[in-house]
Amino acid sequence: MGHIASAALDSTSSCSCVHIPQDVRCQIAATLGPIATSVLVTERHCMPVWRVATEQGDVALKVDMSGTGFPARERAVLSALGDGSLAAAGDHSTGPWLATWWWDGASTFERWAPVRDGGIGRTRNLHGALRAAVDFCEAVADLHDRGWVHGDLQPVHCIHTAAGPRLIDFAVAYGPAGSVPDEIEAAYPYIGGKIDLNPPETAEAMITDGLAPKATQATDVYSLAASLWHCWTGGFPVDYASQGAADDSLPATERRRLIAQGLPLPAIPRGLEHADLRGVLAGALARNPSDRPRARELAERLAAVAR
Ligand SMILES: Nc1ncnc2c1ncn2[C@@H]1O[C@H](COP(=O)(O)OP(=O)(O)O)[C@@H](O)[C@H]1O
Ligand SMILES: [Mg+2]
Repeated sequence: MGHIASAALDSTSSCSCVHIPQDVRCQIAATLGPIATSVLVTERHCMPVWRVATEQGDVALKVDMSGTGFPARERAVLSALGDGSLAAAGDHSTGPWLATWWWDGASTFERWAPVRDGGIGRTRNLHGALRAAVDFCEAVADLHDRGWVHGDLQPVHCIHTAAGPRLIDFAVAYGPAGSVPDEIEAAYPYIGGKIDLNPPETAEAMITDGLAPKATQATDVYSLAASLWHCWTGGFPVDYASQGAADDSLPATERRRLIAQGLPLPAIPRGLEHADLRGVLAGALARNPSDRPRARELAERLAAVAR
């Protein structure tokens, strides 16, 4: 199960399941009203996500078409988290499904596009991008304050809405003990988030055991900083190029080995250099988890760079 989930988190390959199953349509109609339109957003390893317009509003619909049952975990997490993002959920012939309210807005990755594409010299662009970075960190800090960790922070897992940042994809999040039923925890052990954004301790455990200890605030902070590094430079904070490989073209085990080994941070692409920003992110990418700042501190440090 874990390996299927791992592949799902780290691959863009797809299957041919592009239609919302009829029984899911009926179940959604029963709770949210008839489906007006639906658009496929992504389909990786038979876990498609659709944007679905219903009478009660737009939702992101995630359906298990592969029989792994994986959406059951996110469903359990969102029920326990109780942040109001779960719109509807159910089961269909091949597995569980869930629908979360759709957040309108750009992801943090999209908010950084003007900087990545236009260079750091455009201070107006940089200011807006740094504000988005601060908001992302604060959303994570708020989650941590509630006793939860996300476990799979990525540049596209924060959406900047008019009402503030919203985190998405809680498939591998952890709350206070007992938040998620034991049988669900047992069925879906933690295997890290997206490989290139995992901290060294997660990468190392995955190599040794094929499983990782549960995500923590410190693993989240590393992945948060790695996500922001990706938003800024388009690359990852591991110098794969020094090993003669393009970013993420290496096999998973090799990437994990390099992350665990602790390569120096890559050079910042020309035109994007910013010593203060590099320093702040480098601090949060510290090899030793206890040397990393808390998410709130990272927000404060980035806010100081933005001023
Ligand atoms: N609630 C939501 N609001 C807006 N966009 C969403 C929402 N949920 C998912 N998405 C979009 O769908 C993509 C995939 O969703 P995600 O929950 O990350 O699933 P997975 O990574 O399992 O495919 C996101 O990157 C985002 O573009
Ligand atoms: Mg995701």
